[in-house]
Amino acid sequence: MKKITFAWALLCALWGLPGHAQWPYDVPFVPSPQIVVDEMLRLAEVTKDDFVIDLGSGDGRILITAAQKFGARGIGVDLDESLIEQSVANAQAAGVMDQVQFIRQDLFKTDLSKASVITLYLLPGVNMRLRPALLALKPGTRIVAHDFELGDWKPDVKVTIRKNAMLWIVPANVAGRWRISVDFPEGERVFDVEIRQQYQEIDGVVRITDAIPGGLWQTSLRGDKVRFSIVDNAVRELEATMYFDGVVREGVMEGELRRGVGVTQTRHRWRAIRIPK
Ligand SMILES: C[S@@+](CC[C@H](N)C(=O)[O-])C[C@H]1O[C@@H](n2cnc3c(N)ncnc32)[C@H](O)[C@@H]1O
Repeated sequence: MKKITFAWALLCALWGLPGHAQWPYDVPFVPSPQIVVDEMLRLAEVTKDDFVIDLGSGDGRILITAAQKFGARGIGVDLDESLIEQSVANAQAAGVMDQVQFIRQDLFKTDLSKASVITLYLLPGVNMRLRPALLALKPGTRIVAHDFELGDWKPDVKVTIRKNAMLWIVPANVAGRWRISVDFPEGERVFDVEIRQQYQEIDGVVRITDAIPGGLWQTSLRGDKVRFSIVDNAVRELEATMYFDGVVREGVMEGELRRGVGVTQTRHRWRAIRIPK
């Protein structure tokens, strides 16, 4: 069950009750505790090279911390005018106005393409409305959220220190059929793999020989970095595992593979291209 704090529950209850002042936007203002802000940014491994976008930036604390403690730049968007004014005052007091900008803007109308990190403390339904835009971002973009998840897109990492902080890394699209070629000293070898993908989780089948197909083992997809292992069963007496590491870019995957273990291990370049449907 989702962990909802007392403050959230109270605010959301008040929000729906007649006779109470209603927050006019999609999510009420509840600031993330500083410990949670720190944890979100630590989880996303924010550096000075990052551009952070905080969607629903409240009093600006996430972006100001990203600038102050991690040297990042970025923008915060919120629809509440007084929160934008407060954020600017807070950023001035923190001495980070040259790194951050706060804009009165609907988060659903915000251009996210510049972000290397996106931070969220919204509500489950709002996260779900945002999800298609998040999944369409450049592979490798990191998304960190306080408390609420992204439906069946499971986080890559979840940490609980007082509250939940979760990290998702936008996965490259690798689903489909690929033709892998490997430069072995004895000559090039070619085999086909079929990859199935559910967000960052992948598995698949490979045909090394015309006999029984094999599996893709120990798979992982982190942004555009792909990893899997295949048992090379071309010659029964010489079976060995091939450990593939690669990068995915526009219809091509390529990298290095290690074949075998210990002193028998050899290293080779590999490249795969998509097989059109
Ligand atoms: C729960 S607060 C989070 C504040 C801050 N990110 C933090 O974690 O401390 C959510 C914020 O989203 C803002 N908000 C709600 N709907 C919005 C929308 N459609 N566009 C931009 N901001 C919105 C609210 O005004 C509020 O400040």
